[in-house]
Amino acid sequence: MKSAIRITEVGPRDGLQNEKATISLEAKVAFINALSATGVQEIEAGAFVSPKAIPQLADSEEVFSRIERKPGVIYSALVPNEKGMERAIFGRADKIAVFTAASETFNQKNINAGIKESIERFEPVIRQAKAMKMPVRGYVSAAFHCPYEGPVAPQKVLGVALELLALGADEVSLGDTIGRANPDETRRLLDLVLKEIPKKKIVLHFHDTYGMAIANALAAYQEYQMVGFDSSAGGLGGCPYAQGAAGNVATEDLLYALSSLGAKIPASIEAVAGAAGALIPFLGHALYSRAAGRAKGQTFPS
Ligand code: COA
Ligand code: ZN
Repeated sequence: MKSAIRITEVGPRDGLQNEKATISLEAKVAFINALSATGVQEIEAGAFVSPKAIPQLADSEEVFSRIERKPGVIYSALVPNEKGMERAIFGRADKIAVFTAASETFNQKNINAGIKESIERFEPVIRQAKAMKMPVRGYVSAAFHCPYEGPVAPQKVLGVALELLALGADEVSLGDTIGRANPDETRRLLDLVLKEIPKKKIVLHFHDTYGMAIANALAAYQEYQMVGFDSSAGGLGGCPYAQGAAGNVATEDLLYALSSLGAKIPASIEAVAGAAGALIPFLGHALYSRAAGRAKGQTFPS
């Protein structure tokens, strides 16, 4: 039976970008190869952004050239501009993700551009991706709260998401970049965006700063039948432009939560926890997930 849940594993990008220790090329490739074997449908394997902005991911070309690609798995990459697009093509990324935010200040800090200017920058990038039949994701960061501007109006998020879709994005990922959203805010945003955007084009991206990510994901799944989620093995991550923000919701915890409610999940909880666990000696700290360490040797439905 096909999984209803669609996981984009963002650990190799959103997860690693905020790690203090420099993770070697070999460790990154091993991490992605292990994730490829877990069952997740999509892996965000790197970012073709400025190496000065995100030094940890400066070797994304090498990562893309060395990973063993599992047929059926989509290997995507973050692309901020045309230069990034050239690098993504060179790296043979299957899919690209452009990124902007629903907050002007956050966008300025993150990509040195306002919302309008960033969307203008994406236009040639998306056009080229479409010509090459590469699927495109559009990220809307700070979709609930902004570290500089406070609460973000759902109407603003909808507006940015619609612009990305109008340019040709195939899906939008709505990000609680600083991990402050609660289930009521999740409902308010979904109540609005689902009036204008089909469910299958919306992915939810929760961070777990205050331990709310699972609650938000479950509200979205149970009450709105949302099935597309971003998550990071081990709960790695954080945002360099959002002080104090914790990592993404851990993939293994999200899978556990969804399967406990009867969802058909795509990946093995134990395998995801194992993929992240192999990184511990390089990270210099424990994983942030609950299921990691407890998952070993146990069987879960998948
Ligand atoms: N890949 C590699 N280098 C790039 C690049 C890319 N995609 N885009 C720009 N650069 C380089 C330029 O060549 C230039 O290098 P130089 O100083 O040696 O001449 C430098 O970066 C500045 O380029 P510029 O076009 O003026 O960009 P900027 O300074 O306004 O930065 C971004 C804009 C988008 C490139 C940068 O802010 C960025 O990469 N941000 C990513 C942040 C991120 O990934 N955040 C986490 C995800 S939420
Ligand atoms: Zn994120």
